[in-house]
Amino acid sequence: MSTWREELGTSHEMIPLLQSIFANVSDAILVVDRGGQIVKVNAALEQMTGWTEEELVGRKHICELCLGMATCLEETTCADCFFKQVQLPSFEMRLRTRDGREYPVAASSARLPDDGNGKLVLVIRDMSAQQRAEKERYQHKLTNYVIQAQEEERKRIARELHDGVGQALYSILVGLNVVGQSSLSDPIRQHVNDLLQMTSKAMEEVKRMALELRPSALDDLGLLPALRSLMKRVEKSFGIQVELHAQGERRRYPAATETALYRIVQEAMTNTAKYAQASQLGIVFEDREKEIVVTIVDDGVGFDVDQTLHTGKGLGVFGMRERAQLLGGTLDIRSAPGEGTTVIVRIPIQKEETEHGDSRPDR
Ligand SMILES: Nc1ncnc2c1ncn2[C@@H]1O[C@H](COP(=O)(O)OP(=O)(O)OP(=O)(O)O)[C@@H](O)[C@H]1O
Ligand SMILES: [Mg+2]
Repeated sequence: MSTWREELGTSHEMIPLLQSIFANVSDAILVVDRGGQIVKVNAALEQMTGWTEEELVGRKHICELCLGMATCLEETTCADCFFKQVQLPSFEMRLRTRDGREYPVAASSARLPDDGNGKLVLVIRDMSAQQRAEKERYQHKLTNYVIQAQEEERKRIARELHDGVGQALYSILVGLNVVGQSSLSDPIRQHVNDLLQMTSKAMEEVKRMALELRPSALDDLGLLPALRSLMKRVEKSFGIQVELHAQGERRRYPAATETALYRIVQEAMTNTAKYAQASQLGIVFEDREKEIVVTIVDDGVGFDVDQTLHTGKGLGVFGMRERAQLLGGTLDIRSAPGEGTTVIVRIPIQKEETEHGDSRPDR
């Protein structure tokens, strides 16, 4: 079998071809001598690291560019560097750039067998985009899982409150009514009346908590009836006038879509109540066949969206955006100090998904 040197010697046309490949491939190529001194680099490596060929060749050692190496099995230390091995088909490397950044790369190495100097060739591929995409995919998956678990837990607690504590309080109320109807001394009657009032208040409170956790209307009647009852509660609690306009077909949507839209509107309304000092809040619901668009507008004090959200103060807007994105949708916030706030959420829907039936996953 001929060596690569013999091949090149016999086929002179290979030399310009190899030179062109070396110069033009998008993977970075780095050749080091037995001692680890850099002897050759291609343009892709210059671009990736920010160092020029002149700054590297004959001047830098491989270790000056390496912040660590790992295979899928182990991470190496400098004392036990993979570099000393003859050949490593693939490994990960953290490359140090000229401006001190760390660059995650995938690399492979090969010792040139018939080279008296024992040169080692490293082929390096930029992995930062893949790593970013993978991290984002993982984060989305995790958020989806957390949101679903949270929704399930809210459903469970709401049901327990309604069926457990709520029913117990109702029984106490009925019992106290019976006691109240018997002949009692004035102080005892007063005491029973106080207990009746306290029990009804506690029942109201339990009902409110269960509704806030997860309104049964959302599962039983759908998004618009649930939003209407949410509006009434906001009007009553915060004294803001709320109007809802619904355009397009009125039907049931996939449970995940109804839940996400309900939670997004709920958070937007809570933000208006908490921060906007608004007197009016409008919700426009549009069923555009292939997507649902919900717009929530308040006439409050407004805020600087970029500046406020970059400080990472709250989780509300982040959660709204995540919920929309997990369903392939978008969330847009338009606001400025003194100009009120508009939240626009778009969620795509498939025609076959819109039927109200067993296909509803989280019912
Ligand atoms: N409708 C609004 N009017 C005025 N300011 C708003 C409005 N909505 C949001 N903001 C501003 O944006 C910030 C971020 O809102 P976000 O919902 O993310 O967090 P939060 O409400 O402060 O906390 P959390 O929602 O986690 O309880 C708020 O603190 C507030 O300053
Ligand atoms: Mg909030």
